[in-house]
This record gives sequence, C-alpha cells and structure tokens, in this order.
Amino acid sequence: MARGNVLVALISFLLILNVSGVLSVTFTMINKCSQTVWPGILSSAGISPLDTTGFALQKDESRIVTVPTSWSGRLWGRTHCSQDSTGKFSCISGDCGSGKVECSGGGATPPATLAEFTLNGANGLDFYDVSLVDGYNLPMLVVPEGGTGGNCSTTGCVANLNDLCPNDLKVTSEDGSHVACKSACEAFGDPQYCCSGAYGNPNTCKPSSYSEFFKNACPRAYSYAYDDGTSTFTCASASYVITFCPPLSTSKKATKYPEAAELPLYNSTMTYLGGGESLEDGGVSSSSAMRVSFVQLLGGAVSLFILLSSSAIWRSI
Ligand SMILES: *[C@@H]1O[C@H](CO)[C@@H](O)[C@H](O)[C@H]1NC(C)=O
Ligand SMILES: *[C@@H]1O[C@H](CO)[C@@H](O)[C@H](O)[C@H]1NC(C)=O
Repeated sequence: MARGNVLVALISFLLILNVSGVLSVTFTMINKCSQTVWPGILSSAGISPLDTTGFALQKDESRIVTVPTSWSGRLWGRTHCSQDSTGKFSCISGDCGSGKVECSGGGATPPATLAEFTLNGANGLDFYDVSLVDGYNLPMLVVPEGGTGGNCSTTGCVANLNDLCPNDLKVTSEDGSHVACKSACEAFGDPQYCCSGAYGNPNTCKPSSYSEFFKNACPRAYSYAYDDGTSTFTCASASYVITFCPPLSTSKKATKYPEAAELPLYNSTMTYLGGGESLEDGGVSSSSAMRVSFVQLLGGAVSLFILLSSSAIWRSI
C-alpha cells in the first residue's frame, strides 16, 4: 500500500510537472536588428507544430516560445515583409509561402540563416546548430543557458554577410539593397556544391571556395552539408536564447569548452561585422532568464502542492 502511495504521488508529480511546463524548454527570441524581423518556426516531419509558427518581432522586442522537451525543427528570420492589397503577406527574405504571418508548416525559402534543433536526442542531449547551408540572410546567435554536458557553447553567425557576399551569390532587392546571400548549391545547382548524386557523401563532397567564404566569416556555422564536426553543438537541460543581429559584445563571452574555443564565433581578421558593438544586451538575456526561472519555480511550487494534497487524499482513503 505504501509503495502504491508513493507511486501515485510520483505519477501525479510528473504529470503536473509536465502540465505546468517544467518539462518543456524555452526559446527566447530577441530582435537586435535595426528593423522588424518575422521569425518563422518549422517542426520536423512527424513533430507537432508549436503554438506559434511565425510572428513579428519589432526592433528590441523579445518573445518567449515554449517548446516540448523532445521537439525538433528549425527557426529563422524573415525580413522586409509586407501585406499586399489582397491581404497576402510575403517577405523578401526567408518567406515561408503561407501568405500569412504564421508559417503553418511552410519552411524558409532560401537563402536564409537557420537555427536547427533536435532536443533530447542521443544520450538525452540537445543537438543544435546555425546553418548557412541554405544560404544566409541575417546574423543569428544561439546561446544555451543553464545547460550542462556536451560541448554546450554559443554558436551562430554574427557577421553581416549581405554586403560582402560574392557577387554571383548576392540577392539584391528592388531598391538595390543586399538582402541575402545564396549558397553555391542554390546559385549553380551543381551536385558538387549540393553534396548530391556522386557527391552525396562526406568523402566526395568537400568544401568549395564558396563554402569557405561562409566558414571563414562564421567558423561555427554549417557552411556545407558535411560540415558537422565544427558546427554541431550539444547540451542537456538548457534553455536557448536566439538573437537576430546580436551585438558583438554578446559574442565575446560564452566560450567555456576547449574544443569550441579554437573556433572563434566570428573572424576578427575580417572587418565587416554588423554594427551594434556598443550595445550591451546583457540586461535583456538575464532578465528573460530570470523570468524563465520564476515560471519554473512557480510550476515547481504548484507541483509540490498537488503532490502533497494527492498523497494526503490517498492516505485518507
Ligand atoms: C579568417 O578569414 C581569413 C580570410 O578571409 C582566413 O584566411 C582565416 O583562416 C579565417 N580565420 C578563421 C579562424 O576562420
Ligand atoms: C560537439 O559534440 C558533438 C557530439 O559529441 C560532436 O559531434 C561535435 O563535433 C562537437 N562540436 C564541436 C564544435 O566540437
């Protein structure tokens, strides 16, 4: 009987933990760009969509998205978006084709910088990366907070590559501004760049001068399909802060793990980095981290209360 009591209490404890969201992860998305960014979120095949699949994030705005612990999918930023006279919503970069602010299952039209996540994968680790395999449209930074294990480090591409992009990869909008940078695969469709056909394995698909442009600028981001070794990071029990156009000051902290220390987040010998060097975003991420732990504390207190009352009920039967 006593064992049953403990079991029921434990089960209700776990259930409540789940319901109160403690067994979920938070993604805090922050826009430090000088213009509005419309994040898009796509769950992997077979994974339920999140509560939101796309929204507007004004300059300096942040938004917390709650994600189930075993979620996998990708996030990106859409830029220069607007609604036409028929009400159709579209974006010059990163458009997801839904015609609405919510992407509802639509993925990013390349080129777009992607943050990719597989939460709670092999050995209970989260796998994450920032990928330029489908090209680049915005600087993005992923910072794990409160995590342990693996090579839990900041990753991303903080350089602004739209102006520096090689001419044959550049995407220019009607007003002449450089809005994105294609991958060589998308620009030329060559199997050698796409790692397809005869080049569909890591022995035959090698970096190209184009992928090296991306890798030189952003040594931790994926620059071509088989760039895993230096571009995949792992972490357990973390929350993630995803910043569009991060100030460079953020990027200088956060190198805890020796193997990652050899991979600078950006190439300081390249002098074209995006602005915002004088901005301090420390306040933003620490206040959001505090908000998160308050929610978790509250969830914990509610669980404890229910745990105590459910075991009291059980005992009184
Ligand atoms: C920085 O870029 C230069 C050329 O642009 C390259 O030779 C060098 O290897 C890069 N450094 C890193 C750490 O990627
Ligand atoms: C991080 O760890 C993963 C899993 O062990 C490994 O595949 C990856 O190469 C490591 N990343 C870096 C940048 O060292």
